[in-house]
Amino acid sequence: MDSKINRLDKLNALAKLGGGQERINRQHEKKKLTARERVDYFLDEGSFEEIGMLVTHRSNDFGMENEIYHGDGVVTGYGTVNGRLVYIYAQDFTVFGGSLSETHAEKICKVMDLAVKVGAPIIGLNDSGGARIQEGVNSLGGYANIFYRNVNTSGVVPQISAIMGPCAGGAVYSPAITDFTFMVENTSYMFVTGPNVVKTVTNEDVSSEDLGGAYTHASKSGVAHKISANDIECLNDVKKLLSYLPQNNTETTKKLKFKLNNEIREVLSDIIPENPNKPYDMHKVILGIIDEGSFFEIHKDFAENILVGFARLGGRSIGIVANQPMFLAGVLDVKSSKKAARFVRFCDSFNIPLLVLVDVPGFLPGTDQEWNGIIVHGSKLLYAFSEATVPRVTVITRKAYGGAYDVMNSKHIGADLNFAWPSAEIAVMGAKGAAEIIFKKEIIEAKDPEAKLAEKELEYGLKFSDPYIAAQRGFIDEVILPKDSRKKLIKAFAMLEDKAVIKPKRKHGNIPL
Ligand code: HXC
Repeated sequence: MDSKINRLDKLNALAKLGGGQERINRQHEKKKLTARERVDYFLDEGSFEEIGMLVTHRSNDFGMENEIYHGDGVVTGYGTVNGRLVYIYAQDFTVFGGSLSETHAEKICKVMDLAVKVGAPIIGLNDSGGARIQEGVNSLGGYANIFYRNVNTSGVVPQISAIMGPCAGGAVYSPAITDFTFMVENTSYMFVTGPNVVKTVTNEDVSSEDLGGAYTHASKSGVAHKISANDIECLNDVKKLLSYLPQNNTETTKKLKFKLNNEIREVLSDIIPENPNKPYDMHKVILGIIDEGSFFEIHKDFAENILVGFARLGGRSIGIVANQPMFLAGVLDVKSSKKAARFVRFCDSFNIPLLVLVDVPGFLPGTDQEWNGIIVHGSKLLYAFSEATVPRVTVITRKAYGGAYDVMNSKHIGADLNFAWPSAEIAVMGAKGAAEIIFKKEIIEAKDPEAKLAEKELEYGLKFSDPYIAAQRGFIDEVILPKDSRKKLIKAFAMLEDKAVIKPKRKHGNIPL
């Protein structure tokens, strides 16, 4: 028996060494942790149970039969994060550059299948040179097996990807299908084709960092939802994200202990400027409403004219969507519509209630927007809100103009409670634009057209630029004082806790893509 135990110990030790100490050193020189170090740091101490540690590849080409590494370039298994079960896979760059072989893919698929059967999140830590070049179609098939599972797992358990090294070629599609992609600055990149191919095909000179580094994807493409300075920060961010999420789509998040006290927030009273065209930072409104220190912003550097993120309100996990007047006056455009729509759909998939803060002057005009399909992309957000069955509460802080009024979680598209501050202006368009159109003849014929326009602007403004007509109609349930917003919202979400919506049977809707 002793010799048998020895053999097992040896095999396990070999597996733990991955591609060997020299390659581990190289990984550290690049300021990257190894796959095992990442898993150990991420999971609660001593909770990791590995699955498939002794798996090896089956390739006999290009001398591969002599290059066997136990584990085959990916560490897979399960453990806990703050006591909650998660499944995890971490690609090991020290073994064939973390490249994906048939068996490497099988290991990932095995933990994904378990995650769905049991109903717990699956976390992928990516660090890979892509398809195992020695394997050809076996590797490509392995990728497709993962993609297929990513799609079928979507909306069942949360799927989170951290990109902590290379992720190129078709490999990028797995993270893209998962719910969130976090990237590490300077050590990770994602692209469909690298700088060399780009140079050949388009003659562009671009570095890996500019083409597909963390900041590029966080600010330009929106592929990355969050970026961090190093591996540790990235793993901390993933843990924090998990704290807002339920284990699966049949659960709601656990409510933290909370007792309603004096929830008046005077700080909210002074945020809206006297001048309706002056911007203000919607972050201040969010921070004034939510439980202290609980805002976890997603897509911070992308489409900054809309804010999305998770927070806690009265101990409950909620998703927030808010126009940001500081950028492009908070207008809706192609990027902000897509950003918000995806976030709304995530929250709805996982039973996370939605709070929507509205200050929107409308959709951004122009050829750039029209030619890039604002019609289709804007309707994504309309669609996402309309189909969401989670508790949905809106507060209009200032402008709610035109089609954007409808889109931003209006009563008409199924919101449960709609509040407005006294500063709200709900109208078809801004008073000036409206006066120019409907009083065009009068203004042209006036002795002093400018004075006439000002007079008509005021007249239109007085009639429509307040929340009271909407309140008379019942489109606004209550006009509330800013300082009461926190208290009102805590009560609203508590009241809506057991909301249930039964929809007619259908295979799935056809969201405009
Ligand atoms: C097999 C690979 C590999 C791969 C790297 N290695 N990529 N082995 N298949 N795809 C091995 C290297 O041979 C090397 O082995 C070790 O990993 C580390 O690689 P280095 O090149 O030394 O590291 P580095 O300089 O950091 O460069 C990393 C890299 C580079 C940029 C990822 O290795 C690279 O360009 N690799 C090829 C990437 C690629 O073209 N992949 C296929 C893309 S197509 P030793 O023994 O020296 O440690 C694709 C299609 C997917 O992925 C389609 C899905 C639908």
